[in-house]
Amino acid sequence: MAKLLFFYFLVVFPSFILLANCQQGNNTLEADQFLNETQTLVSLNKVFELGFFNLSDSNNEYLGIWYTAPKKTVVWVANGDSPIIGGNGSLHLTPEGVLSLQNGSGYVVWSTNKRSFKGPPEAALLDSGTLIVRDTMTGDVSWQSSYDLSNTLLPGMYLGYITLPNLNQKMQLTSWKNDTDPSPGSYVYMLDHSRLYELVIVYGSTVTYRTGPWTGSHWNGMPQLGEAGLVAFQLNQTDVAAYFYYNSLNPAYIFRLVMNQNGTLSFLRSNLTSDWEEFERIPPANSGQFALCGPNAISQGCVGWFGDLIDTVKLANDQGDNLYMRVAAPPPPPPPPHTPDMNVRKDELMTFEFSTLRSATNNFNPANKLGEGQFGIVYKGVLNDGEEVVVKRLARNSREGIENSKKEVTLLGKLRHPNLVKLLGYCVREEEMLLCYEYIPNRSLDQLLFGNLENQDSPLNWGMRYSILEGISAGLLYLHEDSGHAIIHREIKPSNILLDNNMVPKISDFGLSQLFDQDNLFVKLCRVASCGHMAPELQKKIISTNADVYSFGVLILEIITGQRNSSFPNGLVAHVRIILIS
Ligand SMILES: *[C@@H]1O[C@H](CO)[C@@H](O)[C@H](O)[C@H]1NC(C)=O
Ligand SMILES: *[C@@H]1O[C@H](CO)[C@@H](O)[C@H](O)[C@H]1NC(C)=O
Ligand SMILES: *[C@@H]1O[C@H](CO)[C@@H](O)[C@H](O)[C@H]1NC(C)=O
Ligand SMILES: *[C@@H]1O[C@H](CO)[C@@H](O)[C@H](O)[C@H]1NC(C)=O
Ligand SMILES: *[C@@H]1O[C@H](CO)[C@@H](O)[C@H](O)[C@H]1NC(C)=O
Ligand SMILES: *[C@@H]1O[C@H](CO)[C@@H](O)[C@H](O)[C@H]1NC(C)=O
Ligand SMILES: *[C@@H]1O[C@H](CO)[C@@H](O)[C@H](O)[C@H]1NC(C)=O
Ligand SMILES: *[C@@H]1O[C@H](CO)[C@@H](O)[C@H](O)[C@H]1NC(C)=O
Ligand SMILES: *[C@@H]1O[C@H](CO)[C@@H](O)[C@H](O)[C@H]1NC(C)=O
Ligand SMILES: *[C@@H]1O[C@H](CO)[C@@H](O)[C@H](O)[C@H]1NC(C)=O
Ligand SMILES: *[C@@H]1O[C@H](CO)[C@@H](O)[C@H](O)[C@H]1NC(C)=O
Repeated sequence: MAKLLFFYFLVVFPSFILLANCQQGNNTLEADQFLNETQTLVSLNKVFELGFFNLSDSNNEYLGIWYTAPKKTVVWVANGDSPIIGGNGSLHLTPEGVLSLQNGSGYVVWSTNKRSFKGPPEAALLDSGTLIVRDTMTGDVSWQSSYDLSNTLLPGMYLGYITLPNLNQKMQLTSWKNDTDPSPGSYVYMLDHSRLYELVIVYGSTVTYRTGPWTGSHWNGMPQLGEAGLVAFQLNQTDVAAYFYYNSLNPAYIFRLVMNQNGTLSFLRSNLTSDWEEFERIPPANSGQFALCGPNAISQGCVGWFGDLIDTVKLANDQGDNLYMRVAAPPPPPPPPHTPDMNVRKDELMTFEFSTLRSATNNFNPANKLGEGQFGIVYKGVLNDGEEVVVKRLARNSREGIENSKKEVTLLGKLRHPNLVKLLGYCVREEEMLLCYEYIPNRSLDQLLFGNLENQDSPLNWGMRYSILEGISAGLLYLHEDSGHAIIHREIKPSNILLDNNMVPKISDFGLSQLFDQDNLFVKLCRVASCGHMAPELQKKIISTNADVYSFGVLILEIITGQRNSSFPNGLVAHVRIILIS
C-alpha cells in the first residue's frame, strides 16, 4: 500500500500537474514543477519565451527570456555570472515560491528569495517579457525579473528605484561582458537623482553620458529622443520611488533598449518580420566629445550663438525649451586717464605685480592691517585707479604648493556669485602668494550679530536676518553645486560672512582650505585657528559638503538667537529645541 501511494505521488501526481499546465497554455510553472533544458515557457501572445540557451558554441548554459521573432533575441538572463557548465540545467519552483536554477547534479547556481504565501505559488511568463512569481490565491507578486534587469529595457519596464520597508530595489541596465559572455560588463545605465532626475551612463564611478534633466516631457539634453513618434517616455516620482519607462506608440513594432558593451545605448525596433533596426543611438555619433562645438554652443548638431539673438519664438503648449541667458554686468566706469598698463579685463582674474600690491597697501603698513586670519594677514589697500581692495598675504608655501595653488586660484577666480566676495586677482612672488579681493565696506555678520555695540541691541531685524540667511544659502549652494565644482568652505561662521552697503551677505575665504589642503598644514592650522566652527566630522578630516551644511545649521541658530555657539560649553545645538512644522 505504501509502495502504491509512493508510486501515485511520484508518477501520477506530477503528470497530472503537467496535464493541467498544458490545458492552460504553457506560460506558467506550477509549484514543485521543473523546467528542463529542452522545455520552455511561452508567453500567451507568443512574443516571449523563457528557457535555457547557450551563446555561440560555448559550453556555458544560461536561463533567460528571449524575443521569439524576428529571431531569437535574448532580453534577460538569470545567471549571467554563474553559467551552468556542460548542460542538463533545470529550473525548479519550490512549494515555498523560490525559483531555483540547478546544474546537472542539482547544485543551485541561482535562486530568488523566499517570501510567505497564502496559496500555492506559480511562476508565469507575461506578455511584457517579465517572469513573475505570484501567489495564486491573492495574486500578489513576490518576485519579478524586471526588477533585476540585464542589459535590456523592454517597453513598460522601469529604470529607477523603489524604497519600501520590505523592498529596496534599484533597476538599472548593465552591459554584458561581450556577445558570448552575459556576465556584468563595464557600463551601467541608470536614473541619477542626486540633483535632478536624469539618466546617466556610468563606467565605474565616471559618468560617460547624461541625458540632461527631465523637463516633464523629454530629456533636456536629448529632445530628439522619441521624435520619431514610435515610443513615449515617462518619468514618474512618488515618495518612495522614481522611475523612467517608455511605451510603444505603434503596435506594429516591438522594441528593446540595450546597454551595449562599448558604452553606447541602442534603441531598436522590428515589425516582427524584418530584422532589428537601430532607430536611435545614445550618445549620438558626433557627441560626447569635449568642447566639440566650442563656447556658447550646444553640441547636438552644434548650435551656436554669435552676435544678436533674434527670432526666438514662444511655442504653444510649452513645446519649446526655456532659454536662459546670462548677460555681462554693466561695464565698469572708464578708468581715470593716469591708470598704468592694466589692460587686463576687470571680470577676469588678474595677475598683479608684487609692487602694485605693495604700494596699494602702503608697503604692507600695519595701519592698513584689517586682521590676521587662518591663512595669513589681511590688509586694506587702494589700487592706482582708486579702487578699494583687500589684500591677503598668505602663509608661505612650497614651490610645488604654489603651482597647485595657481590652479586652484584660477578656479576660484571663475566663481562669480552675488553672495560671494569677489576674487579680483592674485600675485605670486617666489614662495608666497597674495590674493586680492573686492572690499566690502560694511561689517562682518559677527560684529553685527554679537558686536561690540556696548549694550546696544543688534541692528538686525527679522526681515534682515531672514534675507541674510537666504543670501548665505544661495552662496553655499553655488559653491557646492551650481558652480560646477564641489567647493567646500570648511569654515562657515559669522566672521566669514561680510555685508555690503545694502546688507547683502557675501561669503569670504571660500576655497582657501582647498588651497592649503596638504594634510599636515591643515591640521596645524586647525590647531592654531579656532576649530570651534568646524563640524565634528571635519575635525576628523572626513570632509564633504555636509560639513558646511552642519556649520550652516549652527549659523542659522546663531542668527536666530543672537548668541554665539561658543558661549555654550556644549554648543548652541544642545540648547535649542528644533520643531519641524510641515
Ligand atoms: C525534459 O522533460 C520532458 C518532459 O518531461 C522529457 O520528455 C525530456 O526527456 C526531458 N529532457 C531531459 C534532458 O531531461
Ligand atoms: C510551450 O510551447 C512551445 C511552442 O508553442 C514549445 O516549443 C514548448 O516546448 C512548450 N513548453 C512546454 C513546457 O510544453
Ligand atoms: C549548452 O551546451 C552544453 C554543452 O555543450 C549542452 O550539453 C547543452 O545541451 C546546451 N544547452 C542548450 C540549451 O542548448
Ligand atoms: C544529462 O542528463 C542525462 C539524463 O539524466 C544524462 O544521461 C547525461 O549524462 C547528463 N549530461 C551531463 C553532461 O551531465
Ligand atoms: C554542478 O556544480 C558543482 C559546483 O560547481 C560541481 O561540483 C558539479 O560538478 C556540477 N555538476 C555538473 C553536472 O556539472
Ligand atoms: C568574451 O569574454 C570571455 C571572458 O569573459 C572570453 O573568454 C571570450 O573569448 C570573449 N568572447 C569574445 C567574442 O570576445
Ligand atoms: C505616471 O504618471 C502619469 C502621469 O501622471 C500617469 O498617467 C501614469 O499612469 C503613471 N505611470 C505609472 C506606471 O504609474
Ligand atoms: C558599439 O556597439 C554597438 C552594438 O554592438 C555597435 O552597433 C556600435 O557600432 C558600436 N560603436 C562603436 C563606436 O564601437
Ligand atoms: C516589415 O518591414 C519590412 C521592411 O521595412 C517590410 O518589407 C515588411 O513588409 C514589413 N512587414 C510587415 C508585416 O509589416
Ligand atoms: C552697514 O549698512 C547699514 C545698512 O545700510 C548701515 O546702516 C550701516 O551704517 C553700515 N555700516 C557700515 C559700517 O558701513
Ligand atoms: C559649537 O560649539 C561647541 C562647543 O564649543 C563645539 O564643540 C562645536 O564644534 C561648535 N559647532 C560649530 C558648528 O561651531
